[in-house]
Amino acid sequence: DGSFITLGIETSCDETSAAVVTDGRNILSNIILSQTEWHERFGGVVPEIASRKHLESICAVVEKALLEAGVGFKDVDLVAVTNGPGLIGALLVGVSYAKAVAYAIKKPLIGVNHIEGHIYANFLENDFEPPFVCLVVSGGHTHLIHMRDHGLYEVLGRTLDDAAGEAFDKIARALGLGYPGGPLIDKIAKSGDENAIAFPVAHIKDGALDFSFSGLKSAVLNFLNNSRQRGVQVKVEDVAASFQKAVVTALVENTLEAAKRVNSKVIALAGGVAANSRLRGELLNRTGGDLEVRFPPVKLCTDNAAMIACAGYYRYKQGFSSDLFLDAYANLRL
Ligand code: KG4
Ligand code: ZN
Repeated sequence: DGSFITLGIETSCDETSAAVVTDGRNILSNIILSQTEWHERFGGVVPEIASRKHLESICAVVEKALLEAGVGFKDVDLVAVTNGPGLIGALLVGVSYAKAVAYAIKKPLIGVNHIEGHIYANFLENDFEPPFVCLVVSGGHTHLIHMRDHGLYEVLGRTLDDAAGEAFDKIARALGLGYPGGPLIDKIAKSGDENAIAFPVAHIKDGALDFSFSGLKSAVLNFLNNSRQRGVQVKVEDVAASFQKAVVTALVENTLEAAKRVNSKVIALAGGVAANSRLRGELLNRTGGDLEVRFPPVKLCTDNAAMIACAGYYRYKQGFSSDLFLDAYANLRL
C-alpha cells in the first residue's frame, strides 16, 4: 500500500529498541530488549556495559522489528535514530548502525532528540495534536514543556539537580528494592501510608517552574539512617509511599501552574515516570472540566523506538533530514 514506513532506532540508555511505524503513528512493531539483568546488580546503568550490549543486539533487534512488521529493508522510507541526550557510547551504537542502514538502502536519515521522542509517544495510535503542556519525567530528565506545534517547544521549567526517575531509583536502592526503582516503589507504595512521614516538597523561589529533588532524597536517606541508628524498624511501604507523595506533589503543582500560565487546556505526560500510577491518578483528580490530561500507555512511556520513529517522521515531514555526518551528543538540547 501507499503508507510511509519509518524504521526507528533507540539506544540512548539501557534498552536496545527498533520499531516499524507507518505514517508516523501506526505501530507495526516495537521491539524492546531490556538490559536490566546486566545492570541491576550494580544498582544502576553501567555505561560501558550498555554500549557493549547494544552492539551485541542491535542487528537482531532491527531484524526482529522488520520481521514482525512483515516488511524488509527495501520497504523502509526513512531511518530515524536517537542522537542524544543519553550515554554517549550507547548513542553511538544506534547512530552508527542507522547511518549504515540509510546509506545501504539509499533512504533519508533523521536524528531525533530523545526528549522529543518521549513527547511524541503521546501521538502513537492516537489523533492527539499540539498545543499542550507536557511534563517529561524520566530517569535522566524532568522538564515542563509548552509544545506549541510540531517541532516548536518552550521549556517552562526543569530540574535543578536530580531527575524524578533518578530520585525514584536512588530511594529504591536505599530501601533495598532493586533496579529500576520506579515501578517497584509504585507497587509497594500501594500498601503503605503516604501520610506516615512528612517529607519536604521543594518550592523554588521567584515563581520559577523548576524542580529540585536532592533535598527530598537527602531527607529520605537521613530518615533511614536515623531510624537505623536508633534501632527503629521502618516500614518500607510507608517510606516508599511518603516519598512518592512528595515527588508527585511537586510534579503536579508545577504542571498545573504551567498550564495556567500559558493558558493551556491540555496537559500531557511523557517519560518513564509518566507510568507512575500515583502521578496519573493525582493529575486525573486535579483536572477535569475544561482541563484535560493525556498520557501514553505504560509500555510507550519508557524508552522505545516507536516514539523515535514518530518524532522522526514529523521532523522529516517538516523538511528536516540528517546527513551521514550525523553525530551523537550526550547533552543534546531540545
Ligand atoms: O524514559 P525512561 O525509560 O528512560 C530515560 O530516558 O531515563 O525512564 C526510566 C525511569 C527510571 O528512573 C524508572 O525508575 C522510572 O522511569 N519509572 C517509574 C515508573 N516506571 C518507570 N517511576 C515511577 N513509577 C513508575 N511506575
Ligand atoms: Zn527515556
